[in-house]
Amino acid sequence: MVRSAAGGGPGHGTLQGHDAAASALARLSSSLKPQLGTRLPAVLSVRVLLFILVVVLSLGVLVPIVSRSRSDLNAVRTSQTVPRLPHTANLHLGTNWRRYSLPQAAQAVASDGVLIVCTVSQPYLEFLNNWLISLARQNRHQAALIIAEDYATLDFVNTRWPGHAVLIPPALHEESNLRFGSQGFFNLTSRRPQYLLEILELGYSVLYNDVDMVWLADPFSYFKNKRDVYITDDMAMIKPEDHSHALPPPGKNGRTYICSCMLYLRPTEGAKLLMRAWIKELQERQWSPSHKTNDQPAFNWALNKTAGQVDVYLLPQVAFPSGGLYFKNETWRQETANKHVIVHNNYVVGSEKKLKRFRNHNLWFVEVDAGLSPLSEKGG
Ligand SMILES: *[C@@H]1O[C@H](CO)[C@@H](O)[C@H](O)[C@H]1NC(C)=O
Ligand SMILES: *[C@@H]1O[C@H](CO)[C@@H](O)[C@H](O)[C@H]1NC(C)=O
Ligand SMILES: *[C@@H]1O[C@H](CO)[C@@H](O)[C@H](O)[C@H]1NC(C)=O
Repeated sequence: MVRSAAGGGPGHGTLQGHDAAASALARLSSSLKPQLGTRLPAVLSVRVLLFILVVVLSLGVLVPIVSRSRSDLNAVRTSQTVPRLPHTANLHLGTNWRRYSLPQAAQAVASDGVLIVCTVSQPYLEFLNNWLISLARQNRHQAALIIAEDYATLDFVNTRWPGHAVLIPPALHEESNLRFGSQGFFNLTSRRPQYLLEILELGYSVLYNDVDMVWLADPFSYFKNKRDVYITDDMAMIKPEDHSHALPPPGKNGRTYICSCMLYLRPTEGAKLLMRAWIKELQERQWSPSHKTNDQPAFNWALNKTAGQVDVYLLPQVAFPSGGLYFKNETWRQETANKHVIVHNNYVVGSEKKLKRFRNHNLWFVEVDAGLSPLSEKGG
């Protein structure tokens, strides 16, 4: 099973317990804190006092010190807390995100009929932030719709970036056992084709990404020629740069190793047929203690069974490499530098290892490009 060996996305690694989730949230909150206007009083300290001092001294005015500094403070405060007009304002939802539906969310954030979707639970908020920064570097973040698996994630995203997260009930329970290979994990990942189908039926194209990916370039120029579905191979074996763009031949399990981690789907009958086939395969390949499956084998069987009815396009490996290739072969990585578009931090298990690996490869944008995060109050 490639995905367990690969230890794919956050979806595919081991989901941590509630404590880890709470601490991840706390870490992210504190890393975003300096940009939060509401925390201004705490931030005022040194920089603002120096600013006031310079103003006061340069004007040579000593008498109205008190009122003067107060108005400077207000000027600073105003400039840093100008409320952003959420583009969901027309929905009149206020902060009642719990009743925000997928059609409303899709309508609010889609750009040119396209949505960029990921799924996130609380332990992976930092990875979400990293992924969003990589989208923001390409100026594509505005079309991002985050499917929150729990209410903490829903509220966290929507209070900072109104309208960009939606929760499709039922929410994940904290006590759910979501380790890779568990039944809860299967249940969770099994929902993916259902909401992708719903988005297609609403008429949008959708780019789905696991949240342990980063963009190094804009992928949209690859989604051309109006195919139904664009897929990537999860194999690490190097292919010639002019490899075929057809569905590859089955591997040793009798099926292909296409990643369900990164999909571009157009709202065509072919793409919808594939989603329905995926849902059916999942129903027929239920999790059991002796068959600890997840969503990916079912996706590959669906590709197999709909072959000829769905126009699939295998994206170039050099642009969309698996983590088993990108992170494990430095020679290849250097030879193909500047050709990489979306990199997947899989073939490693656990969020600490994923984070360390991103950091070692200068892909932990949370630290180097924090100013671009749409999850800081000035972002979006
Ligand atoms: C997973 O789904 C099945 C079938 O709907 C259900 O019986 C089971 O309780 C669920 N298990 C978990 C851990 O969510
Ligand atoms: C579908 O899977 C079967 C069994 O592994 C295989 O023989 C067949 O070639 C596959 N079809 C396609 C189109 O990949
Ligand atoms: C790593 O990449 C180089 C250059 O593309 C290739 O020649 C070599 O076989 C690869 N190594 C492995 C272990 O795949």
